[in-house]
Amino acid sequence: MKLKIAVLPGDGIGPEIVGQALQVTEAVCKRFGHDLSHQHAWVGACAIDRFGNPYPEETHQLCMESDAVLFGAIGDPKYDNNPSAKVRPEQGLLGMRKQLGLYANIRPVTTFPSLIHKSPLRQEVVEGTDLMCIRELTSGIYFGRPQGRSEDGNIAYDTCVYSREEVERIVRLAYKYARQRHKKVTVIDKANVLCTSRLWREVAQEIAKENPDITTEYIFVDNAAMQLVQFPTRFDVLVTENMFGDILTDEASVITGSLGMLPSASIGIHTSVFEPIHGSYPQAAGKDIANPVATILSAALMFEYAFGLTEEGAAIRRAVAASIDAGITTEDICRGNKAYKCSEVGQWITDYIAKEK
Ligand code: IPM
Ligand code: MN
Repeated sequence: MKLKIAVLPGDGIGPEIVGQALQVTEAVCKRFGHDLSHQHAWVGACAIDRFGNPYPEETHQLCMESDAVLFGAIGDPKYDNNPSAKVRPEQGLLGMRKQLGLYANIRPVTTFPSLIHKSPLRQEVVEGTDLMCIRELTSGIYFGRPQGRSEDGNIAYDTCVYSREEVERIVRLAYKYARQRHKKVTVIDKANVLCTSRLWREVAQEIAKENPDITTEYIFVDNAAMQLVQFPTRFDVLVTENMFGDILTDEASVITGSLGMLPSASIGIHTSVFEPIHGSYPQAAGKDIANPVATILSAALMFEYAFGLTEEGAAIRRAVAASIDAGITTEDICRGNKAYKCSEVGQWITDYIAKEK
């Protein structure tokens, strides 16, 4: 198969982790006989420095012409404590999501048996966790208008807006995945307070009726935040609006031990984007110490979701699991053993894929 991917490393550790994921992708293509071509482009703070735009038109064009996008991370500390900055790296990410129509962000959370002790939660609570968060990604309070300040600057406002159509398409997607998994959908909202949440619930109830083979439950977001750490194994597919999803998926990500392990897929109207859920970790940039696993597992999602190549995705997952079992891990998860470099972990996983029979 011919695979054309856009590679957007971004800022901080982005270039290092994406470099490893790309090497793994190349090894998979070689082993399974795919013809891979890839091209790099700028996004985030580095794109502001070069072009004054965190998501330049050239980058967008490349994404549109590619079959999938492999994305690193964006963000730079020079913007974090500077609320008056006119252009911010995050606008690049939001602009990309909007322009590519990436309305669904899928974050699977599974445990690695040999890493369970790294979880901040007790082993018996975490064991067997296997859930999938589906976060709406191109609407809600992130994009709603009006947004701004009063003339005197003393009042600020954001607006949460959802249309029926936006809710419908994401909830339907949740049912589609639940059907392939454990047949349970948890709809998370704040329908006791928010108007948009009442629309979510109304639409979800209609779609639930069309899917009688799937169990549906509705819970408020505050309760969901609690249950995620108390009973993570009770969840299968969770679906929620943009900002609730942002917060809950960070929470869910540490259940398994390290934020450095979890991949994501953003899918929608145009080209899908695959990226780790962690940020650009600027303190580690250039030191070759970041955990490349989340990005490597994002490449696995890319094979599965963008190309329908499940064997290839499974090969990456097996190689990652083997690296953890063999103790070839970066410092965030090394359990007092030797900490390997980002590039050493990537190389080990690449070699495993090349040699596996
Ligand atoms: C994420 C990030 C982004 C978000 C930021 C960087 C804009 O936290 O992908 O979860 O809030 O969506
Ligand atoms: Mn986030």
